[in-house]
Amino acid sequence: MMAPMLVFVLTVVLLRIEPIRGLESGASDTRRRAPEASSTPAGPPPKRYNEALRLSNLFYYAQRSGKLPANNPVPWRKDSALLDCVVGGFYDAGDHVKFGFPFGAAMTMLLWGVVRFRDGYVYAGQLDDVYTISKWGLDYMVNSWDPFREELVIQVGDGDIDHQFWGRPEDMTMPRPCLKIGVNRDGSDVAADYAAALAAGSIVFREKGDVQYARELLLTAESIYDFAVNNRGLYSNTLSAAQQQYYRSTNDKDEMCVAGVWLFKATGDDKYLYQAELAAVRGHREAHVRGGYRSFLKGWQPGGFVQYTPCGLAWSEQTYWGSNRHAANVAFAALVAAEDGIAPEVNRKWAAEQINYILGDNPHDGGCFSYEIGYGNKYPLRPHHRAASCPDPPATCDQRNLNTDNPSPHILYGGLVGGPILNDGYNDTRPDYVHNEVALDYNSGFQSALAGRWRCNTLL
Ligand SMILES: *[C@@H]1O[C@H](CO)[C@@H](O)[C@H](O)[C@H]1NC(C)=O
Repeated sequence: MMAPMLVFVLTVVLLRIEPIRGLESGASDTRRRAPEASSTPAGPPPKRYNEALRLSNLFYYAQRSGKLPANNPVPWRKDSALLDCVVGGFYDAGDHVKFGFPFGAAMTMLLWGVVRFRDGYVYAGQLDDVYTISKWGLDYMVNSWDPFREELVIQVGDGDIDHQFWGRPEDMTMPRPCLKIGVNRDGSDVAADYAAALAAGSIVFREKGDVQYARELLLTAESIYDFAVNNRGLYSNTLSAAQQQYYRSTNDKDEMCVAGVWLFKATGDDKYLYQAELAAVRGHREAHVRGGYRSFLKGWQPGGFVQYTPCGLAWSEQTYWGSNRHAANVAFAALVAAEDGIAPEVNRKWAAEQINYILGDNPHDGGCFSYEIGYGNKYPLRPHHRAASCPDPPATCDQRNLNTDNPSPHILYGGLVGGPILNDGYNDTRPDYVHNEVALDYNSGFQSALAGRWRCNTLL
């Protein structure tokens, strides 16, 4: 997945610095409170981070697949894909495949944000919603695993078939094949992603007091991780040649390490720490890892290995697709680093600048344009998203709804679109999936950064 090095280095550091007990005590709740608005005296208007966080949860609600509960807050989304081999979960992006690989990574990032910045969710009144979102994803993971046959469903739908269709998920009739991994069907990368998310989820729900559910999540995480340890191999090997173009995997070490770390955090069992080290960083001492972490973040600051748009978005050539998401992921990383005492002021300030760029400190459309849909009064009106582009039924929805310049009939609240090119340029056009699509993983680091962002306020 994107920025595997980042996730890998971060989780290792996180593990070293934050002992298990911190997770159970809800210690983070005691941190100081700060006013919601940035106290920057002049310049762009202050941002409403709590509002941005509320919207981001709404994006995940809009992506839900399966039988929706009566309290679904997105009125234009209904039950869909009820015949999938595993019902539920989330649609990946503007399309309707349930791709397990980015989904697992996104869930891990999101849950990591809840573990580290639970107080930010409390402060924003968004804790219940992030629990609901998390449970929706975690239930789907549990239902995807058959511990007796050692089979894990890691994808529902086929990218090529799915992308032929432009319409509502509620109206799908195309085949939605069920892709499983198992013994002799490689996929330890995706399996480990799921194990990481489930272990992080067990911490979140244990803290919440849902002990039974937390235990179920942890047992599933351990079972899937054991399977991954004993059946190493890339899920890309299991895909057909045609399918390999979507979210190709090149290495499972980062996922194996991340999963081991989260399992160690969730259980306190040294065996997982050992396995995490074995997967990736054997022999590295904490000082080493902290050094790597520090230099990774430095590399994203001015003068480092990434470029900057004229208005200040950190922009990497490698990651031109969905530029906002990479900056937001690293912003979350920087906020976690700050919590752990790594250059707190520099990292918080930098993270705040990246998030502020996304929420409006940018030149698009005369300025104050938010790349998060629905935030403020200027934001993308034509995201590359099938469901939002379709009028209410019984009106038809097809390729014409993709290609029209009209704004989408539904506002996809909270979706973070891909983002600008290196010169800050961006067009709000629906066919441009590189710069104007949304995705589960785009919002995950962004949302986690928003949850941690309010702690910066007194520093700026
Ligand atoms: C936006 O559209 C214009 C006109 O088609 C094009 O010249 C420009 O390169 C586009 N910018 C981006 C960032 O795609």
